[in-house]
Amino acid sequence: MQLPKTIADKIAALLDATNIDQLRTASKQLTENYHTSHRGVRTPDQHLAYVAARMPATYAVCRAVLDKIGHQEIKSLLDLGAGPGTASLAAKDVFLQLDKLTLVDKDQQFRSIALELLPSIQYALDDLTHFVSEARHDLVLCSYVLNELNDAAATKLVMNAWQATQQFLVLIEPGTPAGYTVLKNVRQQLMDEGAYVVAPCTHHQACPLTGNDWCHFSAHVDRSSYHRLAKDAALSYEHEKYSYMIFSRQAVDRPLYRVIKRPMQRSGHVIFDLCGDSGVHRSTVSKKQKDRYSLARKISWGDGWDFEDD
Ligand SMILES: C[S@@+](CC[C@H](N)C(=O)[O-])C[C@H]1O[C@@H](n2cnc3c(N)ncnc32)[C@H](O)[C@@H]1O
Repeated sequence: MQLPKTIADKIAALLDATNIDQLRTASKQLTENYHTSHRGVRTPDQHLAYVAARMPATYAVCRAVLDKIGHQEIKSLLDLGAGPGTASLAAKDVFLQLDKLTLVDKDQQFRSIALELLPSIQYALDDLTHFVSEARHDLVLCSYVLNELNDAAATKLVMNAWQATQQFLVLIEPGTPAGYTVLKNVRQQLMDEGAYVVAPCTHHQACPLTGNDWCHFSAHVDRSSYHRLAKDAALSYEHEKYSYMIFSRQAVDRPLYRVIKRPMQRSGHVIFDLCGDSGVHRSTVSKKQKDRYSLARKISWGDGWDFEDD
């Protein structure tokens, strides 16, 4: 997955006048910020480094998550903690009828960048710790923002986001134990408010993952030349780990199980770990199971699975 060419070209133009050594330093500082308590994007160069080195990955994740909603008529969107507009861009590419985009963030420089990348949007400068939406939106997104807030502020934001949701609320966080824990904590609170979980959970039971296990997935990201330069990286791709939850106002069809680890393709059989309403179990599909073997060969981490074990 990569950013659409028109957007990648606009980003390349934004970065054109930037000194590459400064960009690399800022990119390293950004990684440091996220690994320490100094969360977030601080200096002007770090904003550009975010756009060059993080935005392609968060875009790929948003696309992967929004694709799980499937074909729905989504016309309006509220993107909370929008940054440079990553999640909105992904939503525009998934939901072709989307024409009313409202973005909110407290960051002036990200607002300017988003307005360059996505001209027909409303972008409000506001602090999410006391933000309340007056209108409802078909889709509400919080992408990589809850982990920048403390627990109480994150919970309050999610409840406000749910009040603003007409159809779907999508929460995306880094695929780390901390990112997963934030989502697990708000899941029950949202269900208490009547929310249906669309994905990744295929059930409304408590999350069965325990110990050192956490629910996360991986997106393949193609690196552009400026992405490689900013990260001083040789590889033409990277894998971005993420955790997410999609909630809906209406009950939706869900698969019986979710594949929660990378499937293991072996000679004559496929092994995969599934999560469903009876918990987590390992399933093996062999060549002899003609009704499902070809599907199992193609299955990916994060996909749904609709067969009970024989
Ligand atoms: C990691 S960036 C994510 C940007 C974008 N959603 C994405 O997925 O690429 C987090 C964003 O949350 C915003 N943010 C953090 N705390 C905020 C607050 N209290 N009020 C408004 N915005 C906030 C930051 O300014 C930043 O733009």
